[in-house]
Amino acid sequence: MKIPLASVLLTSVMALDDGLARTPPMGWMSWERFLCNVDCDTYPDSCISENLYKRTADLMASEGYLDAGYDQVNIDDCWSTLKRDPVTNEQVADPNRFPSGIKNLAAYVHDKGLKLGLYSDIGTKTCGGYIGMQDNLELDANTFASWDIDMLKVDGCYQDTDMMKDTYPELSRALNATGRPIVYSCSWPAYLPEFGEANDGEVLKELAEICHMWRNWDDIRDDWGSVSSVIDYWKRNTTEDIFVSVAGPGHWNDPDQLMIGDNGLSHSQERSQFALWAIFAAPLFMSNDLAHISKESKEILLNKEIIAVDQDPAGHQGILNWSSEGNGDGDVYGGETRVWSRLLNDGSYAVVLQSTHSMGTQTKVKFESSMLDGWEVGQKFVARDLYLHEDIGEFDGEMVADVWPGDVEMFIVDLV
Ligand SMILES: *[C@@H]1O[C@H](CO)[C@@H](O)[C@H](O)[C@H]1NC(C)=O
Ligand SMILES: *[C@@H]1O[C@H](CO)[C@@H](O)[C@H](O)[C@H]1NC(C)=O
Ligand SMILES: *[C@@H]1O[C@H](CO)[C@@H](O)[C@H](O)[C@H]1NC(C)=O
Repeated sequence: MKIPLASVLLTSVMALDDGLARTPPMGWMSWERFLCNVDCDTYPDSCISENLYKRTADLMASEGYLDAGYDQVNIDDCWSTLKRDPVTNEQVADPNRFPSGIKNLAAYVHDKGLKLGLYSDIGTKTCGGYIGMQDNLELDANTFASWDIDMLKVDGCYQDTDMMKDTYPELSRALNATGRPIVYSCSWPAYLPEFGEANDGEVLKELAEICHMWRNWDDIRDDWGSVSSVIDYWKRNTTEDIFVSVAGPGHWNDPDQLMIGDNGLSHSQERSQFALWAIFAAPLFMSNDLAHISKESKEILLNKEIIAVDQDPAGHQGILNWSSEGNGDGDVYGGETRVWSRLLNDGSYAVVLQSTHSMGTQTKVKFESSMLDGWEVGQKFVARDLYLHEDIGEFDGEMVADVWPGDVEMFIVDLV
């Protein structure tokens, strides 16, 4: 077992030196909002069909999402037939729901200046029960490349997790061998008992060599409890944590889709998710219906200053610098206050002040200059508010924000 693993690592270090996903990928995917709805007679506007992806591509191009950086339209589960083509053994798109085929859909999406992503599964079936890639990795990689797709999310249902250390790297090599640049999104760690963090993050380190991004934790759902549980998993307090240091240009931890513009989060909670995903250097994939989205949600999604933090070229994943709980203040009325930060390429920091309280009025959350590496107590700094889009002045060592329950304030701070 040692020899194949070593050769995998050698090949795969090179396999990912491919210029893809240098910043976290951005776009839209169907999963959380549209799931596996294949009943187009009853739900013509929301079933998994080429119409859904075409109308989404139209709106991404016309409503400013593409301009803001969301350039992927991603098909998720339930697009294929249930069985491979009996003659070629290839995967086939459902002919009723995708009458033009995936290649024509890719051409449509490319015409709009967007890219097309596809979904499959490393096991014998997808999570929804459709065709899986097991035993056909090379064939499927070639089929998908011949359809001109730009990204592939590969789920991990219906496969023994012990096989994944061989299959996920093998598919990475097969995708590279097609010659087509395809962003490879893996689900391997989400299926493991310690989410790939066992043995000092052994699996995370390998993922960084073979995948451009990977899903680490539970699937996200459209409610604050779910989004909070993801945030809690990302609550690391040192940049030396392997979960933090493994992320960087070309290889990202993926906390899953944005629930902004859906039904389950309040305005404050939507602001929190967006600000924190930017701190996490997370891939930004919406899963909403762009034809039915509030002005407020759209404004959050199109906040270019926060997107710029997410897309910062240095690609450092941010951490939690301070929390009331960590400092003995405990859980006050069902929540705590937190200070998060992320070092940016120009030496400034993005800072998020968060309140996870679920009752009461605003809470004062204090950022202190000594929380940042190389900054001293009482250091003079300037700050810019990324939700107000305003420079808010110069500070002497500390800055206090009034934060509503479930909300955040987000800033860039820089030395004077
Ligand atoms: C395949 O891997 C090589 C070596 O890392 C890289 O230079 C090349 O860009 C990759 N090709 C594709 C299509 O990803
Ligand atoms: C960081 O987090 C770990 C794990 O939760 C904890 O054991 C440790 O005390 C924390 N360190 C600091 C400085 O807060
Ligand atoms: C605060 O976070 C930054 C990363 O954004 C890190 O470099 C620094 O060490 C952290 N400071 C403390 C006190 O945890």
